[in-house]
Amino acid sequence: MGKAIELNQVDTIYEGEKIPSLKNITLHVDKGEFIAVIGPNGAGKTTLLETIMGLLESKRGEVKVLGKQLNGNGSNIRKLVGYVPQEYSIDDLTPFLVSDVVLMGRYGKIGLLKPITKNDKTVAKKMMEYLGISELSNRPIGKLSGGQAQKVMIARSLAKEPEIILMDEPFSNLDFEARREVSEKLTHLHKTKNMTFVIVIHDIASIPKVCNRVIVMDSGKIVADGKKEDILKPELLEMGYKGIAC
Ligand SMILES: Nc1ncnc2c1ncn2[C@@H]1O[C@H](COP(=O)(O)OP(=O)(O)OP(=O)(O)O)[C@@H](O)[C@H]1O
Ligand SMILES: [Mg+2]
Repeated sequence: MGKAIELNQVDTIYEGEKIPSLKNITLHVDKGEFIAVIGPNGAGKTTLLETIMGLLESKRGEVKVLGKQLNGNGSNIRKLVGYVPQEYSIDDLTPFLVSDVVLMGRYGKIGLLKPITKNDKTVAKKMMEYLGISELSNRPIGKLSGGQAQKVMIARSLAKEPEIILMDEPFSNLDFEARREVSEKLTHLHKTKNMTFVIVIHDIASIPKVCNRVIVMDSGKIVADGKKEDILKPELLEMGYKGIAC
C-alpha cells in the first residue's frame, strides 16, 4: 500500500516561542486513507497540516511525504500535496478572477515560472465545473461570499491533481446542503482516484461517512487515534449524531 505521510517524533515550535506547538508527534498515514483531525481551538491542528506541507520547519524529528523527506523549503512536497488553508484573507479589491485563482493551483504542480498550457486551463475549468462554480469564473474573487470563496479554494487545491490533500476546516463557511455536496465530491475523488485526505473538521457532524480514521489533538499532542466508530462513539451519543448524508 505504501505510506502517504510519516511523522516520527516531530516537534514544531513557532519562531520566538518557548513551548512547541507540536510535541513529539508520531503519525503514519497510509495511501488512500481518509482522516479527520478534531480537537479544541489551539490544539495544534493547523500546525500539524503546515508541518506536513513544509510551511513550518519541524525542530526535531522526521517528516516524510510519499517517501520523500522535506527539502529545505518544502517545495518538493508542495508539488505533491494540495492544501486548503483555514485562513485566507481576500481583499475586496483583489483583482484576480475566480478562474485565475483556480488556475494558480496548477502552478503548484508545474512550477511558478513555467508557461500555462491548454491542459492546465482544461483541468482548472473541469474543477470549477466539478465544484459547481463555473458561473463564478469571471467574477473577482474579492466580491464572493464566504461560502463561494471556500469552494474556489477547494477547486484550486484540486486543480493541482494531488495524490494527497490537506484541508483545514473546508466546510466552515458552507451551508448544510453545500457541505453535503462538497462532501460527496471529495468522497468520489477519494474512491475513484485513491486520493489520501487529511481534513481538520470542527463540527463532527460534518465528518464525511467515508472517513475511516479520526485523530484527536489536544495541547500539541495526539491524544486519540483510531477508527471513526471507536473514537466518536461517546461524543456521537451525546449529540444524537446522524451522520452527513453521503
Ligand atoms: N504564528 C504563531 N506564532 C506563535 N504561536 C502560534 C502561531 N500560530 C499558532 N500558534 C500557537 O500554536 C498552538 C496551536 O495552534 P494551531 O493554530 O495549530 O491550533 P488549531 O488546533 O488549528 O486551533 P483552531 O481550532 O483555533 O484553528 C496554539 O497554542 C497557538 O497559540
Ligand atoms: Mg486551526
